[in-house]
Amino acid sequence: MFDAVARRYDLTNDVLSLGQDRLWRRAVVDAVAPMAGEQILDLAAGTGESSLPLAHTGARVVACDFSLGMLAVGAARRPELPFVAGDALALPFDDDCFDAVTISFGLRNTHDPAAALAEMRRVTRPGGRLVVCEFAHATFTPFRVLYERYLVRALPLIADRVSSAPAAYRYLAESIQAWPFQDELAAMLQEAGWSQVRWRNLSGGIVALHYGVC
Ligand SMILES: C[S@@+](CC[C@H](N)C(=O)[O-])C[C@H]1O[C@@H](n2cnc3c(N)ncnc32)[C@H](O)[C@@H]1O
Repeated sequence: MFDAVARRYDLTNDVLSLGQDRLWRRAVVDAVAPMAGEQILDLAAGTGESSLPLAHTGARVVACDFSLGMLAVGAARRPELPFVAGDALALPFDDDCFDAVTISFGLRNTHDPAAALAEMRRVTRPGGRLVVCEFAHATFTPFRVLYERYLVRALPLIADRVSSAPAAYRYLAESIQAWPFQDELAAMLQEAGWSQVRWRNLSGGIVALHYGVC
């Protein structure tokens, strides 16, 4: 599915999020708080759109994804980033080798998010950080009702016009609605062994950042 959306993925993101994705990416960088020279894994990095702002801080960022189509578009568009093919459920990295691991809009897409969280912990050094940026559930009920209507009715129509694979965006709407609430995802992080777990809502809770420490 991601191979099919790769070509127009960055543009579609900007349009569908009404430009909010730039704010979310800024918030991820602040949350990861990379220090120069740190080794950071951006998992499910796709075309590297989420990796680039991290790399601009001076950290050494590895962009890893299992979609060869996304990686090919990313490598052509952002040759300065090291792209690595790898599955979140069986990462091609040693234990304890990253100072921080982050995943933006990817955990929901893995077949087994709990296993992916455990695998991310395996490759993070003791004391290292995790930041998960993922669609979540708006906290103010009237806003949530409106937003869910946008997801189900408007988003597929817009995707028909801008995306190279509009069916993928119908899946997006369904998967966001089926995704755990913020407190449930926090519990999943804890079950995977992450400590000091907390979260921060962005854009009224339509996106949340979850933090953990290894
Ligand atoms: C919505 S894109 C997010 C890309 C990027 N992080 C961003 O924020 O723009 C989700 C990505 O997750 C990747 N993905 C899904 N399951 C994966 C897995 N098991 N291992 C590695 N990547 C995976 C897909 O290939 C896709 O590129």
